[in-house]
This record gives sequence, C-alpha cells and structure tokens, in this order.
Amino acid sequence: MTSDGAAQEPRGTGRYDRRMASLAHPDEKFHVSWLECAAEFDGARRDGAGGEEWLLEDLRDPGAFRRLVAELKAQALPGTALKPGYVSCTHLWIVEDETVIGFLGIRHELNDFLLNEGGHIGYSVRPSARRRGHAGQALKNALPVARELGISPVLVTCDEDNAGSRATIEKNGGILEDIRHGKRRYWIATA
Ligand SMILES: CC(C)(COP(=O)(O)OP(=O)(O)OC[C@H]1O[C@@H](n2cnc3c(N)ncnc32)[C@H](O)[C@@H]1OP(=O)(O)O)[C@@H](O)C(=O)NCCC(=O)NCCS
Repeated sequence: MTSDGAAQEPRGTGRYDRRMASLAHPDEKFHVSWLECAAEFDGARRDGAGGEEWLLEDLRDPGAFRRLVAELKAQALPGTALKPGYVSCTHLWIVEDETVIGFLGIRHELNDFLLNEGGHIGYSVRPSARRRGHAGQALKNALPVARELGISPVLVTCDEDNAGSRATIEKNGGILEDIRHGKRRYWIATA
C-alpha cells in the first residue's frame, strides 16, 4: 500500500492499447474468459501465464481466482517472496473486447536458466485465437513495458521447431544470438 492507502500497482502499469488486442493487468473482472482461455489449452503449457500450481477446477471459485490475481500482481513487486529459482515478473493478459485470449509474462531479470533458455518474455495465445496476429502484437506491446521496467534489450527465446513463436520474435526485430539447448535466443531492442 502507498502512504495514501491506495493499492500499489505493479511496475509497468496501465493498459497498452494498440491496433487490436491489448495487454491488461490481471483483474477479477476477467474471471469467466480467463477460465475459458485457460481451459482451451487442455493441459498444455500456458507460456507466460504463471500460477502453474493452481488447479483450474479450484479457480472456478471467485475467492480462489481473487487470490490468483493478487498473487500474480504481487510477483511484479519488489520485496515479494518468490519460489526458489523465480524472479520478479509482470504478468499481463492479452485481451480483445474484454475477453482474455492469451498470457504474457515479463521477467524482470535473467537468472542462469532464463539467460540460457527462458528469456525475459514468455507468451501464449489460446488455440481458437491463433493465426490472427495476436502474439506478434502482444510482443510488440510488451516492449515499451519492458523498457519501463528498465530492461534493454530483452531476450526472447523459442524452441527450434516453434515456427509460430520464431516468426513472432523475428517480426518484432529479434536478432538471433545463438541456439542453446534447442532454444533459439533472440535479443530485441526496447529503447
Ligand atoms: C506461438 C504462438 C504464441 C503464436 O501465436 P499467434 O497469435 O498464433 O501468432 P501470430 O498470429 O501473431 O503470428 C505471428 C507470426 O507467426 C506465424 N505463425 C503463427 N503460428 C504459426 C505456425 N503454427 N506455423 C508457422 N507460422 C506461424 C504467423 O504467420 C505470423 O507470421 P507473419 O506475420 O509473418 O505472417 C501460439 O501458437 C501459442 O500460444 N503457442 C503455444 C505456446 C507457445 O509456443 N508460446 C511461445 C513460447 S516461446
């Protein structure tokens, strides 16, 4: 809380409206579409979403979802206790017409794993919303947020065989440094 009692927003605040989908901070108002979005992954990894330890069936409960939202927002704040091996992360939801269509996480720093494989930014788009340019736009919208967080350049990685993510990174100006452990490692300027 700030001195005037207002809830402290995570660093990298605000909505980042662009041509189509925008990035929004986690919010309880997205409960229904968040659940629909997460369910569409059908157990597949939701890159950039966080909250992996929560069961979807538990998150149907509004109280549990409220706790998830609070937890995700807290992970962006300095001083929050994090799981071992985790760094601070700004979690954002890719939203179109007030409907969650994907997830994006900006890790504030790189540990050894993130430097070699994970990178600063992870993202995923729900299957029914793919191939419509949302990942490319979301990554584009995330770059000024990363800059606001003092990250420049950002490291973004993808599996060697992930054509969609590779194209997403390259269309955002990613410069390939190398491939490590099957991950293509790209740097993108934010300034
Ligand atoms: C990778 C992913 C995020 C792409 O999302 P998306 O919204 O469909 O991507 P976009 O529509 O913005 O497409 C971006 C570019 O990738 C291309 N692309 C997208 N999916 C593709 C695919 N399966 N095969 C080949 N190219 C693909 C698009 O043609 C576009 O390139 P273009 O602008 O040159 O036409 C999505 O498939 C996904 O969530 N996958 C599972 C999670 C994941 O892999 N996350 C990335 C981890 S590094």
